[in-house]
Amino acid sequence: MTRSATASAPGKVILFGEHAVVYGRPAIAAPVMGVQATASVTPNPAGGIRLLAPDLGEDQPLAALPADHPLGTVIRAALAELYGRPGGSPSHPGVSPLPDLLIRVTSEIPIASGLGSGAAIATAIVRALALSAGRPLADEEVSRLVYQSEKLYHGAPSGVDNTVIAFRRPVYFVRGQPLTALTVPVPFHLVIGDTGVASPTKLAVEAVRRAWEAGPARYEALFDEAEQLARAARGAIEGGEPQRLDPLMDHNHALPAEMGVSTPELERLVAAARAAGAGGAKLSGGGRGGNMIALVTETTAPAVTRALLAAGAPHALLTLVGPWTHPSHPTPLPPS
Ligand code: PMV
Repeated sequence: MTRSATASAPGKVILFGEHAVVYGRPAIAAPVMGVQATASVTPNPAGGIRLLAPDLGEDQPLAALPADHPLGTVIRAALAELYGRPGGSPSHPGVSPLPDLLIRVTSEIPIASGLGSGAAIATAIVRALALSAGRPLADEEVSRLVYQSEKLYHGAPSGVDNTVIAFRRPVYFVRGQPLTALTVPVPFHLVIGDTGVASPTKLAVEAVRRAWEAGPARYEALFDEAEQLARAARGAIEGGEPQRLDPLMDHNHALPAEMGVSTPELERLVAAARAAGAGGAKLSGGGRGGNMIALVTETTAPAVTRALLAAGAPHALLTLVGPWTHPSHPTPLPPS
């Protein structure tokens, strides 16, 4: 049975460990519930399956999307999971005829800015398709399907974006390892400052890869340093002492900067946030543009936000990193 369904997915920020996480080191990331991507699935009276995403300039039948189209890929993977593949799949041995569907996507998350817009859109689509098929998927399954599109957006992604967005909770993530819970007994605030410079993650990841190939020892040492910071940050977060993150965040900013992915715009926003009273500040995500984050309190948040806007950020967004998860069905995770 196919019914109309709508689902949303949050943006995300990386607090510690970007780039190093691609090389097996841990990263800490959190959902940003203040910006969402939404997908709705309704019957398509014209027949067939059509993707309508005005924010992305898409209005095409699924059949016309090329094989390497990230959203086409995740839609096909989700339909195969939900309706079966010729020859069957371990979880769904039969094949059902595909319904006629209109998949509409909207997103408030800036594209190519390190806030996980691609993974959020893909997650919203997978969940809406699953609800419409009457077969809600576990967070783990959603994350696995969304990873298919992440590979096309990012090249060789670590999987941190699809994981934090599908699980909708702060995570301590290590590539290829089962997710364990990151507890946040004392919530803390971040201001996210946008440079306004779009930066596809794929290009930043490729630039770091080339530099790592040219100087592996230096880059492995930077990744090791990032690992120490992520471990220390986990201790501070789980110990309920987020104020201990301040120097760790400043230190972490220096690492992607040494990897060559900071920019004058990011440096200006990081400096402005620190000068306006942020505890710590760093670029967040792939770099070369995109967003930075600043640790703030309720008292320092307004001044830091104003300083970021004055330093050229087209947007600044306050978010809370907390113990909460999505209100509907938190997935239990093994304790760390
Ligand atoms: O999507 P972004 O820009 O937040 O970058 C993801 C983080 C990277 O470590 C740079 C890439 C990855 O796959 O983990």
